[in-house]
Amino acid sequence: MPLPKAELHLHIEGTLEPELAFELAARNGVELPYADTDELRKAYQFEDLQSFLNLYYELMAVLRTEQDFADLANAYLARAAAQGVRHAEIFFDPQAHMARGVAMGTVVEGLWRALGESESEHGVSTQLIMCFLRDESAESALETLEAAKPYLDRIVGIGLDSAEVGHPPVKFREVYYSAAALGLRLVAHAGEEGPPEYITEALDILGVERIDHGLRCMEDETLVARLVRDRIPLTLCPLSNVRLRAVDVLAEHPLPAMLEAGLLCTVNSDDPAYFGGYAGDNFDAIRQALGLGEDRLRELARNSFVASFLEHDEERRAR
Ligand code: HPA
Ligand code: ZN
Repeated sequence: MPLPKAELHLHIEGTLEPELAFELAARNGVELPYADTDELRKAYQFEDLQSFLNLYYELMAVLRTEQDFADLANAYLARAAAQGVRHAEIFFDPQAHMARGVAMGTVVEGLWRALGESESEHGVSTQLIMCFLRDESAESALETLEAAKPYLDRIVGIGLDSAEVGHPPVKFREVYYSAAALGLRLVAHAGEEGPPEYITEALDILGVERIDHGLRCMEDETLVARLVRDRIPLTLCPLSNVRLRAVDVLAEHPLPAMLEAGLLCTVNSDDPAYFGGYAGDNFDAIRQALGLGEDRLRELARNSFVASFLEHDEERRAR
C-alpha cells in the first residue's frame, strides 16, 4: 500500500504522456513533428528549465476540446490514485491554451468534467490552481484573471510558473493583489532556477502562502530561518530537479538537509510524464537515493496534507 499523500505541485499539461499526445493529435488533426512515441521520448533530454518548456508548450498543442482536457485529467487522476494520492491541487496554464485560440471555458469546463467526478471515480479530492506564465506580461496576467472570473467557483488559487530567471515575482504584484481581493489562495514558483531573493519577494510582495520548489532557499540562512519560523510549505519535486539539472544527481538532493533544518517540505511530481514518475515514484526514488527512513517519508506525506488547502476549504464551508 503506497503512503496516502496529497500532491500540491502538479501541472496538468505535464501529465500528457506520449501515447495520449498521439491519440489527441490524431483526433484533432494536429501534426506532431515526431514519427512515433519512441522518437518523442528520445526528445526528453533536458538541459535546463527552458529546454523542457519548449517541448512542454509544443506538445500541448494537441489539447483543443473540453473532452481532451477531461481525458488528460482522468488519466492523471487514475495514475495518481494508484500511487496513493488522495488529494491533488492541480495547476493549469490557461495562457498557453488561449494563445492557440482555446477559450478559458473550454479548459476549465473540460478539466471539471474529470475533477467533478474524481472523488467517486478515483477517491481523489481535487482543487484547481490557475498559473500565470511569468515570461508573459503583467497585463496578460491581469487579462487572464479577468477571463477566469466566470469560473472562480472552480478555482481555489493562483500560481506563477514558466521561465523564472529575469521574471521576478514583483512583476506580478498587481494581479496578486487583485486575486487576493477575490479570495483566491496565493502560491508561486520561486527558487527553482531563480535566486533566493525571488522567494523573499514572493512572500513579501505577492503575499504567497506556499512556495513551489524553493530549492535555492538553502543558499540563504536567514531565509531558511524565516521559512522555518513561519511554517511556509515548500513543494519540492525531486525527479524534476534532476531532469532539469537543478541538482546533478538525486543522491545530492538537499531534501535531507532541508528536513534537518526544520523546513516544511512536501514531495511532488511537477510534470510526471516528462520527468520519469508520478508522486509515488518520487517517494520511491528519494527513499532509495537519499536513504530517508520511514519516519521521514511519513513526515513528508503528513506535511502534504498540512500544507494543502483542504482545511481552508472545510473552514470556508463551515462559515
Ligand atoms: N517550472 C516552471 N514552470 C513550469 C514547470 C516547472 O517545473 N513545469 C511546468 N511549468
Ligand atoms: Zn512546477
